[in-house]
Amino acid sequence: MYSLREDNPMLRGIRVSPQWGLQRRSEQITALLQQVLSVCLFPELLHNDTLPVDVRQRAQRLLGECDGGSVGSYTDSCGLPHVQRSVAEFITGRDGGVPSYPHNIFISAGSQIALKVMLKLLVRGKGVSQTGVLTPQPCPHTLPMLLEEVGAVLVPYQLSEEQGWALEPGELHRALTASRGHCRPRALYISNPGIPTGHVQSRKSIEWVIQFAAEERLFLLVNEVYQDCVYGEGMEFMSYKRVLFEMGQQYSEMVELASFHSISNGIIGECGLRTGYMELVNVDPAVMVFAKTLLCTDISAPVTGQIALEIMVNPPRPGDPSHSKYTQEILTNRITLAQNAQRAWEFLIGLPGVSCQPVTGGIFIYPRLSLPPEAVEQARSDGLEAGVLYSQSLLDEEGVCVGAGCEHGQREDKYHIRLCVLTPSATLEKVLACLGSFHLHFLDQFSQHA
Ligand SMILES: Cc1ncc(COP(=O)(O)O)c(C=O)c1O
Repeated sequence: MYSLREDNPMLRGIRVSPQWGLQRRSEQITALLQQVLSVCLFPELLHNDTLPVDVRQRAQRLLGECDGGSVGSYTDSCGLPHVQRSVAEFITGRDGGVPSYPHNIFISAGSQIALKVMLKLLVRGKGVSQTGVLTPQPCPHTLPMLLEEVGAVLVPYQLSEEQGWALEPGELHRALTASRGHCRPRALYISNPGIPTGHVQSRKSIEWVIQFAAEERLFLLVNEVYQDCVYGEGMEFMSYKRVLFEMGQQYSEMVELASFHSISNGIIGECGLRTGYMELVNVDPAVMVFAKTLLCTDISAPVTGQIALEIMVNPPRPGDPSHSKYTQEILTNRITLAQNAQRAWEFLIGLPGVSCQPVTGGIFIYPRLSLPPEAVEQARSDGLEAGVLYSQSLLDEEGVCVGAGCEHGQREDKYHIRLCVLTPSATLEKVLACLGSFHLHFLDQFSQHA
């Protein structure tokens, strides 16, 4: 378990890096999204027949859902009912007919706000009764800060790098047992596809986690923001909700679950529009009232973001004038991401002292570095963690920003970096070239010192 206090040697010297590095790509926004948003912001365009008719119809429909017919008005704290309905329909379709209901959908100003709301509801107690959250190592780098902010205890469980970052049943048991006497574990956090590891869980693994959560009465907090970024051969995204319902009533009526998704990540990638949602399953209606109340403190998610969310979950259908272009754009984004992940993996495993598990989903690649003892020693004498020394030198010398593994809670004396591959392929090539020459120089520099 680690802390974010300044005296934590693991975190000393870390600079605040852009949230997701290379993520925002202005060229990635789809024409449909731009067009619908433009019409909603400037309704005179409703009469502009150079815009596709389905764009104008959609904008008119969405404006009709807004108070006063304007995106400048507040919405309900859980979002526009129309968008909640679209999200629920999307989930039902995605999950092979397992029903989703609009009243269980909470639209928020990003998935992280919704996660914070759920954590606040779960946190209670002090000392041995303080809420603990079982958290994967490596985990998303924002999660430890969030847990600390809400007063939850981070209970680490290790993912097995050698097994492609698999979640091993025995490890969850170990982590749970080890936490007893320190805190009271009440929730289990999962990210699938994995952040920053890029692994995708199999149905069997998900079933096992659900059984474990049921036995130990743990609330499942499932980050599924990269669900549309699964590209490993023969792999498909399987939601926790779907697996839960397909495991039968014994589980489907009992295990409490919050699943998070967002327009920030992956194929749409509009993080600046600040909108996401969570779906709550098996949560007591009285608790849902509190979730709604806590979301109220933000009033509502931006209406422009809710419009983008509606497009993400309810894309044009075959026959709509925008269908072919939109589908093509989304497909291109997916193909670029999959090719980038493969290209980065092949490049990185070709470097000396670098190993990397295959990436099958998400937008990050998480290679492991075997750093010379001299570099580790140098970092120690500078008061830094060696991965931080590496990533800072890379930023200073080549202008390439990667995250250091210690931000994600890696095992001691193992070094990783997090590289975002959601970028135009040409940019990725430049980044890899800079990274490659820096890496060789770094190794050379320290072996010369030896
Ligand atoms: C783990 C994780 N998931 C998802 C996101 C995206 O969050 P949001 O939907 O709030 O933009 C972030 C961004 O910080 C994150 O750290």
